[in-house]
Amino acid sequence: MLFTLLPLALAATGALASSVCSSSLTVSSQSDLDGISSCSTFKGDITFEGSIATATLTGIEVLTGDLIVKNITTLSSISAPSLVNISGAFTLEILQSLSVVSFPKLTSAGDITFVTLNSLDTFQLDAGITEATSLIISDTTITSISGISLETVETLNINNNKYLTTLNFNLHSVSNILELSSTASDVTVTFPYLQWANNMTIQDISSVTLPNVTAINSTLSFTNNTLKSISCPKLKTIGGSLAIVSNDKLTNVSFPVLKSISGGFQIANNTNLSSIDGFPLLASVGGAIDFVGDFDNATLAKLTTVSGGVNIDSTSEEFNCSSWNEAEKDSVIRGDSYQCKAASVSTSISLVASTGSKTDSSDTATGTDASATATGSSSSKGGASAIEVSFLGAFAAVLFQFL
Ligand SMILES: *[C@@H]1O[C@H](CO)[C@@H](O)[C@H](O)[C@H]1NC(C)=O
Ligand SMILES: *[C@@H]1O[C@H](CO)[C@@H](O)[C@H](O)[C@H]1NC(C)=O
Ligand SMILES: *[C@@H]1O[C@H](CO)[C@@H](O)[C@H](O)[C@H]1NC(C)=O
Ligand SMILES: *[C@@H]1O[C@H](CO)[C@@H](O)[C@H](O)[C@H]1NC(C)=O
Ligand SMILES: *[C@@H]1O[C@H](CO)[C@@H](O)[C@H](O)[C@H]1NC(C)=O
Ligand SMILES: *[C@@H]1O[C@H](CO)[C@@H](O)[C@H](O)[C@H]1NC(C)=O
Ligand SMILES: *[C@@H]1O[C@H](CO)[C@@H](O)[C@H](O)[C@H]1NC(C)=O
Ligand SMILES: *[C@@H]1O[C@H](CO)[C@@H](O)[C@H](O)[C@H]1NC(C)=O
Ligand SMILES: *[C@@H]1O[C@H](CO)[C@@H](O)[C@H](O)[C@H]1NC(C)=O
Ligand SMILES: *[C@@H]1O[C@H](CO)[C@@H](O)[C@H](O)[C@H]1NC(C)=O
Ligand SMILES: *[C@@H]1O[C@H](CO)[C@@H](O)[C@H](O)[C@H]1NC(C)=O
Repeated sequence: MLFTLLPLALAATGALASSVCSSSLTVSSQSDLDGISSCSTFKGDITFEGSIATATLTGIEVLTGDLIVKNITTLSSISAPSLVNISGAFTLEILQSLSVVSFPKLTSAGDITFVTLNSLDTFQLDAGITEATSLIISDTTITSISGISLETVETLNINNNKYLTTLNFNLHSVSNILELSSTASDVTVTFPYLQWANNMTIQDISSVTLPNVTAINSTLSFTNNTLKSISCPKLKTIGGSLAIVSNDKLTNVSFPVLKSISGGFQIANNTNLSSIDGFPLLASVGGAIDFVGDFDNATLAKLTTVSGGVNIDSTSEEFNCSSWNEAEKDSVIRGDSYQCKAASVSTSISLVASTGSKTDSSDTATGTDASATATGSSSSKGGASAIEVSFLGAFAAVLFQFL
C-alpha cells in the first residue's frame, strides 16, 4: 500500500530494476506486489492477508526481511521468479489450496517454515537452497523434498508428512535439533554426510542410514519406529542420553565403536530385539542403564563405569543375570540401585553410594543365581522403587517428549 507511490507503469517495465525500497508491505492483491516490482532489493517484511488467489513477486532479488504467508485459504500459487535471498523468515503456513510454490532462483533464507500445506506435491526450488538457519516441514502432502541442499542448519524438523517417501540430506551437521517423525510408512532416510548432531529424535520411520555420524552432543532417541535395524558404525560419543524404545520390528542394533554415553542408556519394549550385544566398546554410561524387554542376552563387554543405577528386566527364559551380577560386584555400577530380573531369576540391590556401604539383600545371591531368587524377591519392592526414582530423573526429558 505504501508503494502505491511508485508509478505502476515504470515498475512493470523494470526500468527501476536496481532500486532499493525500504519499508514493509502487507499484500492483499497482486497489484500490491506489482507495486514493488521495481524494487530489486526490498528492505522490510512482506506479509500476506486477505483472499488473494495467485501471487507473483516479480523483480525482487533480495528481501532483507521476512516473507510471511499464513492462513489464506484462497491462495493456490505463489512464485518469485527472481528472488535469490530472503534474510529473514520464509513462512508458508495453513494454505489449504496452495499447489504451486515456485522460487527458481532462491538460494538462501533464514528460518524456513512450511506447515499445513494440504494441496502441495512438491516445491519448485530449481537453484536449490544452500543456506538456512532452520527448516521445518510439517503436516504437508509433499512426496519429496528436492531443491534443499543445506550443509549445516540449526534445526531440521520434518514431521507429519504422510506422503514423503524419500529423504536424502546433504547435511554435515545439525547444531540444535534434528527431528524426523511420521513420514510415509515406507520412508527411507539417508544422511550420507552427517558427522554430528546435537539432539536427534527419530520416530515413526522405517529406515534410516547414518553412516558417517561420529558424535551426538546431546540426546539420541529412536522411538516407535518400524526400523528393522539401527546402525551407527562410526558413532563414538553421545553427550546426553541414548534411548531405543518401542521399535517393534527392530532385530539388530549396532554401535560398534561407541565408547561413552554421558547420560542415561535405555533400551525398552523393542519386542523383536532378542539380543543387546551391539555395543562392544561401550565403557562408560554417565546416567542410569534401563534395559527392559524380551532379550536373551544383554552384554556390554567393555563396561567399566555406570554412574547411575542399573535396571535389567528381561522376560526371556534364556536370559541370565550373571554378567550383571559380576558387574555389580566389581563396582562397575556406581549409582544407588541395581536390579536384574530374568524370567526365572531376580536380583535386587539398593546401594548407598554416599557412605560406600550397601544394603545388599542378595549378598549370597550374587554368588549363585539360584539363591538370588529367594532373597531377591524380599527386597525387590524397595529396589524397584529406588530405581523408579533414579530412572525418572535420568529419562524424564526423553520420556516426557513421548507422553
Ligand atoms: C484463519 O483465518 C480465519 C479467517 O479467515 C480465522 O477465522 C482463523 O482463526 C484463522 N486461523 C488461524 C490459525 O489463524
Ligand atoms: C545471498 O546470500 C548468500 C548467502 O548468504 C550471499 O553469499 C549472497 O551474496 C547473497 N546474494 C545477494 C544478491 O545478496
Ligand atoms: C565423513 O566424515 C569425515 C570426518 O569425520 C569426513 O572427512 C568425510 O569426508 C565424511 N564422509 C562423507 C562421505 O561425507
Ligand atoms: C531434544 O529435542 C526434542 C525435540 O525434538 C526436545 O523435546 C527435547 O527436550 C530435546 N532434548 C534435549 C536434551 O535438548
Ligand atoms: C558437537 O560435537 C562435534 C564433534 O565433537 C563438535 O565438532 C561440535 O562443535 C559439537 N557441537 C555442539 C553444538 O556442541
Ligand atoms: C515381531 O514380533 C511379533 C511377536 O512379538 C511377531 O509376530 C512378528 O512376526 C515379529 N516381527 C519381526 C519382523 O520379527
Ligand atoms: C547387525 O548389523 C550390523 C551392522 O549393519 C551387521 O554387521 C551385523 O552382521 C548384523 N547382525 C545380525 C545378527 O544381523
Ligand atoms: C514398556 O511397555 C510397558 C507395558 O506396555 C509400559 O508400561 C512401559 O511404560 C513401556 N516403557 C517404555 C519406556 O516405553
Ligand atoms: C546373544 O543371543 C543371540 C541369540 O539370541 C546370539 O546370537 C548371540 O551370539 C548372543 N550374544 C552374546 C554376546 O552372547
Ligand atoms: C548363568 O551363567 C553362569 C555363567 O555363565 C552359569 O554359571 C549359571 O549357571 C547360569 N545360570 C542360569 C540360571 O542359567
Ligand atoms: C506409537 O505408535 C502408535 C501407533 O502408531 C501410536 O498409537 C502411539 O501413540 C505412538 N507412541 C508414541 C510415543 O508416539
